[in-house]
Amino acid sequence: MVSPKREIIILGIESSCDETSAAVLVNGTDLRSHVISSQIATHQRYGGVVPEIASREHILHIQPVVQQALDEAKVGFSDLSAIAVTYGPGLVGSLLVGVSGAKAMAYAAGIPLIGINHLEGHIYANFLHHQDLEFPFLALLVSGGHTHLIFFEAHGKYEVLGHTRDDAAGEALDKVARTLGLGYPGGPMIQKVAKDGDAQAFKFPRAMLEKDSLDFSFSGMKSAVLNALNSASMRGETLSVPDVAASFQQAVVDVLVRKALRAIDRTGAKTMLLAGGVAANTLLRETLEKELSKRSVRLVCPPPIFCTDNGAMIAVTGYYHYLAGDFSPWTLNAVPGLGLT
Ligand code: KG4
Ligand code: ZN
Repeated sequence: MVSPKREIIILGIESSCDETSAAVLVNGTDLRSHVISSQIATHQRYGGVVPEIASREHILHIQPVVQQALDEAKVGFSDLSAIAVTYGPGLVGSLLVGVSGAKAMAYAAGIPLIGINHLEGHIYANFLHHQDLEFPFLALLVSGGHTHLIFFEAHGKYEVLGHTRDDAAGEALDKVARTLGLGYPGGPMIQKVAKDGDAQAFKFPRAMLEKDSLDFSFSGMKSAVLNALNSASMRGETLSVPDVAASFQQAVVDVLVRKALRAIDRTGAKTMLLAGGVAANTLLRETLEKELSKRSVRLVCPPPIFCTDNGAMIAVTGYYHYLAGDFSPWTLNAVPGLGLT
């Protein structure tokens, strides 16, 4: 362990998908700057992220985004303790921009490089505002590419209790939103439109799988919505978009909450961390909060801006790796299929 006698200043860089982001974090909680350059507008016309365009956009933005983060934090490369960067999972071209950039900067500055698992980053976003978090805890990670229930015993020591067998929760929301003509990214649009809808209008299935399973399956639930829309259109009817959005959002939240409670009952954890883009969903946050409080379990979730992809979550994860002396070699490479093991 490195003792935190002097300020530990970490530059965190994220470029795994469609956001180029950099943040400067001091001693794990003092976020001095946080810059996010989103490509959503660029990809919107295609209905989803186009990998080749994403990498080109990262190339254009990485240097100015990093410079802005340093300027806003009023630090230079020589002040940094280390540079942390996402090396997977994600789009290979996008990851490579961040990894190559971070390697070059860290090498030139003569400071350590810390490769960060993006999934771990999402969960550690919770430590930005809660340095007091005590182990063990359960984490529900719900993003566009992943849905995981993970039991954490200590920093870097965890067990995956369940994961999705097909679509991730965010992926299913995005696909249903696209079919409803709501655009990309779908999750926030479903949430917005659902406000005017009736969540009980349609009884979409809730895939709970085997009695004891902590795995998820959202593909069949998504198909049930698409089938309902197709059948209605064959009958010459149109279904209310807000009602479909509200009913599907409710179905996804019901499954996530029921599985989370199952995992709480199984592990006896007294703290649950919510993480990932879908963690920004108000219905999910509120329902989970209500159910967990009945069991005297504390729910911790990041403010919405730290739920979706961002550099601050990479910086804070980097901080804990720094304390553990866990640095990466200069041969660090992008690992698009990186998992949690
Ligand atoms: O974590 P994230 O930014 O990227 C990945 O690592 O995948 O998650 C993106 C996902 C998308 O599927 C998006 O639709 C979903 O998070 N999302 C939401 C909300 N905000 C983002 N889903 C539901 N409600 C939201 N408010
Ligand atoms: Zn993410």
